[in-house]
Amino acid sequence: MSTSRKPFVGGNWKMNLHGSEVAELANGLTALPLDASKVDVAVFPAFPYLAQVAAVLKSTPIKVGAQNFYSQANGAFTGEVSLSMLKDIGCEVVLVGHSERRHVLGETDEMINAKVLAALDAGFEVILCVGEKIEQREAGKTHQINMAQLEYGLAGVNADQMARITIAYEPVWAIGTGKTATPEDAQEAHDRIRRCLNFGFDWGEDIGNAVRIQYGGSMKPSNAVDLLSQTDIDGGLIGGASLKASDFMAIVHAAEQSQA
Ligand code: PGA
Repeated sequence: MSTSRKPFVGGNWKMNLHGSEVAELANGLTALPLDASKVDVAVFPAFPYLAQVAAVLKSTPIKVGAQNFYSQANGAFTGEVSLSMLKDIGCEVVLVGHSERRHVLGETDEMINAKVLAALDAGFEVILCVGEKIEQREAGKTHQINMAQLEYGLAGVNADQMARITIAYEPVWAIGTGKTATPEDAQEAHDRIRRCLNFGFDWGEDIGNAVRIQYGGSMKPSNAVDLLSQTDIDGGLIGGASLKASDFMAIVHAAEQSQA
């Protein structure tokens, strides 16, 4: 990666782990060394454990984030969680547009854009996920899909707010499947995403060059070094491998090293 962008590694725990497992993983993360000047780290536990994990990680540089929230401030939205509630319990980062929310839970581009704007207004950092399905890749539509998801997702975001946006490129076919994009394929997608951020919006080229673009999709200790050595890969969004403290921290350390 470029030395001008500090790598950012996120651990997306999804709908996994219960009581004692959550405590064990959070405690495991506190025990491992981390050079916060070289890498940013955040974890995204399930809602019932967010406050508990935030309390355990309070004394570390690891931020705690939410996998989901609703874009409205409050009111009659049964089952939803607001940004101010998340702020109350110490959350600073949110995921938006994850493929499981797009394709399993049915979130539309309009909902995703509303969430991005609401989270930025509320002062959060946002990881906006984009990525193509296998049939879209096979039809040669990878870049078209990524560009469209960026354009919808970031509509109305201003240049100052872009400092709080990270993009996660997550090819849907690589998520949770054990299949990883080759470092070259991932680099090509990241390069196209960066060019879209530079030239597809009216923020100016400097902004796109400063935005961190994580790779997500079966990143693990054995492939992290090769992926993170690519020029435009600035960290990772990790699912499966984030559920084991030693694996997650191995990826975090690979990201630290990638800056050298
Ligand atoms: P994975 O998930 O690492 O298990 O493929 C990545 C993600 O969904 O963010």
